[in-house]
Parts: sequence; C-alpha cells; structure tokens
Amino acid sequence: MSQKKNENDLMDKIVSLSKRRGFVFPSSEIYGGIGSTWDYGPLGAELKRNLKNYWWDAMTNRRDDIEGLDAAILMHPEVWHTSGHVSEFTDPLVDCKKCKARFRADQLEMSRCPLKPSKSPLECGGELTEARQFNLMFKTYMGPLEDDANIVYIRPETAQGIYVNFLNVKNSSRQKIPFGIAQVGKAFRNEITPGNFIFRTREFEQMEMQFFVHPSEDQKWFDYWREERWKWYESLGINMDKMRWHEHDEKELAHYAKTAFDIEYEYPFGWQELEGIHNRTDFDLSRHMEATKKDLRYSDDVYTEKFIPYIIETSAGVDRTLLTLLVDGYDEVEIKGEKRVFMRLSPKIAPIQAAVFPLVKKDGMPEFAENVYHELKKRFKTFYDVSGAIGRRYARMDEAGCPFGITIDGQTIEDETMTVRDRDSMEQKRMKVGELIEFLEKQIYG
Ligand code: GAP
Repeated sequence: MSQKKNENDLMDKIVSLSKRRGFVFPSSEIYGGIGSTWDYGPLGAELKRNLKNYWWDAMTNRRDDIEGLDAAILMHPEVWHTSGHVSEFTDPLVDCKKCKARFRADQLEMSRCPLKPSKSPLECGGELTEARQFNLMFKTYMGPLEDDANIVYIRPETAQGIYVNFLNVKNSSRQKIPFGIAQVGKAFRNEITPGNFIFRTREFEQMEMQFFVHPSEDQKWFDYWREERWKWYESLGINMDKMRWHEHDEKELAHYAKTAFDIEYEYPFGWQELEGIHNRTDFDLSRHMEATKKDLRYSDDVYTEKFIPYIIETSAGVDRTLLTLLVDGYDEVEIKGEKRVFMRLSPKIAPIQAAVFPLVKKDGMPEFAENVYHELKKRFKTFYDVSGAIGRRYARMDEAGCPFGITIDGQTIEDETMTVRDRDSMEQKRMKVGELIEFLEKQIYG
C-alpha cells in the first residue's frame, strides 16, 4: 500500500472515530455541511476545554508574571490598519483555468485537484493564472448601515486585543517588565485552502501569550519561551520524535516578526506548524502608539529611561493542538485476533478520566458501583456504564481516550476492593475507594 494511502487512511480513521465517539462533527451536517467548519461533540468539547484550561493554568495560575485577558472579537477597524493586517495579511491566490478551482500559490504541493482529488493541481492538465494577493480577514458591518464607514473586521488573531490593552493591564495589575498577557479566544481567517479536518479552518481558536521585555533582553526571553513551550507539549505526553523546530527564513517571516520559530508536528499529511514563537520587537506597540498618540512607553524604578517594550509571542492553535493529540494518541492493537482502537490521551486532559463498571447488574454490584461513581465524580470527569459485556465497555472507553476503568465485581462485595485497569499497560490492580482516589489524583494531577 502506498505511503499516501496510509496517510489518508489514518486521517479517515480519525475523522470517523471523532464522529462515532462524539469528538468532532461536520458543522450543519443535516444541511449537507459547510466547508471546513466543525462542531465539537460531547467528548470534543470537554477535551477542548481541558486543553485550554491546561494551557491557561500553565500560563497564568502557576506563574506570577502573566495576567489573563478576554478581549472582544470586534475591535476598532483602525487597529487592523495600524497592525498591517489590512495591507499585509494576504495569501497568494491562483485559479486553475480548466476547473476554476482556487489554490494558495505557496501551498500547491499540499493541495488536491477538485476534479480529480487523487491528483495535485496541475495534473488535471489545467493551467494556473498569475498569483494575486487575497486578504484573509473577514469583514462585516457594525450597525444597520452596510456602507464603507461601518466596516469592521472579525479578528484574524487574538494578539491585537492584548496590545491595545497593554496600558490597561499594566496599570491595573501593577506588573513590572518582564511580564506577559495571555488570552484564549476565537480567530477567523478566510483561508483559500482550508482542509485536513480541523488543521486549517476558517474559524478557529488561539491560545496566545505576549511577553513584554526590555529590548536588550529579547533573545534571552525568546530562548526561554521556546524551551517552555516545548516542555509544555512534552508534559502532554506527545511523542516528541514527531515534533521539531522550524526557523522562518526571510521569505517566511510575518510582517511583524524579527525572528520566528515554529514548533512543527509530523501529521499524516506531513510536517506542519503547530505553534509559532515570534520576536515581534516593538513593532506592534510602536505602530499603536503612533496611530493613537497614546504613550505606550514603559519605565519604572529599574528602567528609569522610557522605552517601548519588545514582545515575545507564543501563539498556538487550540484546534490544531487537539488534532495533534488525536493523531498522536490514535493506536490500533490486535487483541485475540480482533483489531482494537485506543485513543491514548493524557489523563491530564482526557474528556473522561475514569469509567466505573459493575461487572453484572445484580448481587449489589450496581449499588456499590454507583456509590463509587458519585464519589469519583466530585473530583474527576467520571463515566458510569452498566450496559453490555465488560470487554465492550472497556473497548468503548479505550476509543474515548479514558485512561482508567474501574470494575466492581463479586470480590468487591466481600472485601470492598475493585479492579483499576490502566488503558495503556492494560494492567489491573485491586484497591479500595480511598486508595483509588489517591491513585487517580496522582496519575491525573501528578
Ligand atoms: N498572532 C500570531 C499568529 O496568529 P500564526 O502563525 O498566524 O500567528 C498562530 O497563527 C497559530 O494559530 C498557528 O500556529 C496555528 O496553530 C493556529 N492557526 C492559524 N491559522 C489557523 C487556521 N486557519 N486554522 C486552524 N488553526 C490556525
């Protein structure tokens, strides 16, 4: 079987498992779907929330030098002129003269011909038009009048909400440089070629942190954040052999960046960006200061001379990280001649952290199991399942990414111990409720 076929197979399997188990559904599916938008189902919504919380916790709660923010999606339109997005946030667009399909000129090798999806763009015998620049920002109108004076942009990155609040956050929190501002929120880009499931979509979420530093310390903090972000992925149990750094060359650098490194993951469709770490220098604050005439310079008792802080940005996609977890966690194992699917999600962010099963629906087992379930539910995301053979119940939870299965059996009624099955090692241990809670606390929260 060809390499390409294997790659497509894996993506197909992940899309299919996502639908079957309730991670991700095609958006507006009963209307035939709408290209490249996806809805997160019960397990997906939980996983996404856990992921965002895990990032938020690492970035804000566990540190004293980063504040949180939740800025509006709709901002003053001048923000986007000032930031350079109106003039610079473009991708090169080409059309196939034969089938009229549109492609990003710089991503032709990743694109498929719509007439023959097994082929790449020019294989259909078509010819491409000259590239023209296409702005990726969505526009709408603020208020009832649909005229140019009322155009507003739907933010393409969350970062600008942080820059325009730099003074507000600094003054209200009394933070001193170096310090950061973190934000999680939706961003929208009218991508020319969305695709690869939730990898590139037109509506997505970002987890961005902007760290304000003295210009003389930019390299030190850039290196520091590269290391921190790498460790964060490591802590999620991702296979780090599938991660690598990619440094942007002159041609790739965004209009605002002096240096940029991407953390890339090896997806079934190739190495692609998962997160960007950028040294944005004083570009953003200088531009906003010039446009608004507000003094965004900084000084304090250490830095007595006023300066415009440099910004080190860490910018990760929520949906893309979630896809990475699904791709990285997907595993097939043959057990007693049967192919079994495992979603090996870290217990820290798994949508179901523990599942409780009474072995049979009699002899006091369901009653005991329900008590255990209610006890665990106070601390962990717990699921109770009484229906079907125990093997099938384990299998459902393995696909859902649940790391621990707890079974109440005949012996439980005698000595109050139950089996705890580890999804990954498949080892089973017997323990009582108190030990079980301690065990799960340690496994999940470390
Ligand atoms: N503020 C800087 C910024 O937005 P970016 O490299 O354009 O930088 C950062 O985006 C991250 O946002 C990417 O690494 C990716 O994870 C995510 N992202 C960007 N465009 C996306 C899209 N169309 N669909 C899903 N995620 C996207």
